[in-house]
Amino acid sequence: MKEEKVIVVDFGGQYNQLVARRVRECNVYCEIYSYKTDIEKIKEMNPKGIILTGGPNSCYEEGAPSCTRELFELGIPVLGLCYGAQLMMHVLGGKVEKAPVREYGKTEVHFDTASKIFQNVSKSSVCWMSHTDYIANVASGFAITAYTADCPVAAAENAAQNLYAIQFHPEVLHTVEGTKMLSNFVLGVCGCSGNWKMDSFVENSIREIREKVGNGKVLCALSGGVDSSVAAVMLSKAVGEQLTCVFVDHGLLRKNEGDEVEAVFGEEGNYDLNFIRVNAQERFYEKLAGVEEPERKRKIIGEEFIRVFEEEAKKIGAVDFLVQGTIYPDVVESGLGGESAVIKSHHNVGGLPDYVDFKEIIEPLRDLFKDEVRKAGLELGLPEHLVYRQPFPGPGLGIRIIGDVTAEKVRIVQDADAIYREEIANAGLDKGIGQYFAALTNMKSVGVMGDERTYDYAIALRAVNTVDFMTAEAAQIPWDVLGKVSSRIVNEVKGVNRVLYDCTGKPPATIEFE
Ligand code: XMP
Repeated sequence: MKEEKVIVVDFGGQYNQLVARRVRECNVYCEIYSYKTDIEKIKEMNPKGIILTGGPNSCYEEGAPSCTRELFELGIPVLGLCYGAQLMMHVLGGKVEKAPVREYGKTEVHFDTASKIFQNVSKSSVCWMSHTDYIANVASGFAITAYTADCPVAAAENAAQNLYAIQFHPEVLHTVEGTKMLSNFVLGVCGCSGNWKMDSFVENSIREIREKVGNGKVLCALSGGVDSSVAAVMLSKAVGEQLTCVFVDHGLLRKNEGDEVEAVFGEEGNYDLNFIRVNAQERFYEKLAGVEEPERKRKIIGEEFIRVFEEEAKKIGAVDFLVQGTIYPDVVESGLGGESAVIKSHHNVGGLPDYVDFKEIIEPLRDLFKDEVRKAGLELGLPEHLVYRQPFPGPGLGIRIIGDVTAEKVRIVQDADAIYREEIANAGLDKGIGQYFAALTNMKSVGVMGDERTYDYAIALRAVNTVDFMTAEAAQIPWDVLGKVSSRIVNEVKGVNRVLYDCTGKPPATIEFE
């Protein structure tokens, strides 16, 4: 399946994952490797093409990330981007130095459209530049194929050897015709056929899993989230009832969510698997009673989850395989692929659970980006509402109730949140907002209902737009929608007499309240 692949050699640039994604958008399979990867390993992989990414260093400085000349002599087409382009010149005898003018942002670039890379690209178009060094002289055998007002070598190539250098970033969407250039490289220069498609990925993965598992028993912790659901369905299609999915209802799910997950995966559902739902609500509420500190709550919920799962796993006995819904960004962000800083050591990668007796782990989505996981989910026939579910934190409503958690507070926040979601969907806003939910502030205040004084909770509504969930802006929800949501919540949810809207961005706030 993956015989045809392009590799991205990562020099620490911030767009490394983007390069791989854009290549995959051309239906060519692509993986990211650190620049430290042994050249022998690269030869073994025998990629159809190599792309060198950008990076924060100056290639002429001592100790800067580098590569050997041999990389350019393998007979495999190489495309260097930004730092990668400068490094190509530096290693092959050109000259790179600090540019007299630093270029940053959208820049008009003029192309030689006779170049294979710039075929069908306009004579000049806007590209994303971000560099302080520049290529002062190209290496011997190279011709200049693009320039800007301040950058004499915006692109260069040695077409006979299939070596291409581009100073700007075609992978960034601000480069208007960037995808065409990358496609020209992988399809035109490397000769890839472009037949990496989700249906063949799904089909091949199912076949490979079936071969690997044989008659073995497989266990999967199902959360109802996109990744674990897609992984479970893939396993179910491969090995049917050899798969057991354990779904722990910790009582901190959104309203009706436990039943919805059961409807899809349980006995009445569409899939061939053993589904075990553990209703552990009371256990979690007991452990959480009186605990106010957010991190402590997170820890209790995480630990109790493991304990419940472990007990169920023991009932099943030894299994051969454990399924995890690890996806490619988890792998890269954990520092296992590419060269990016370790942003978080994701619980899915590396730390194998030692509380279940199993022989091997299966990670069927390990090579996929999130949007590809969604495509795979649709391919596998999962319902759209599940595939496009917005992120829901592992500790669930436990971190959307400020302070201590009780069954009553869970009921309040579930009901308020359900109304909020319903009205957002009624207003047609559900697909346009990154994440939105109701939270229960721990504040009670005075209100008046009929002629009676009330002293009840305030619900906070949150809605944010975000690209990566690292930063976010409060979404501007129309006033009439907010008005309808607040009046419904105070009228329909007992225990609430006030509704607040959170206008803070992240930073300084976070998306969740705890
Ligand atoms: P914050 O609140 O940090 O949230 O701005 C960023 C994103 O991460 C989710 N989130 C969590 N997910 N366990 C999770 O699995 C957690 O403890 C957790 N805390 C926050 C949050 O929903 C948002 O999408």
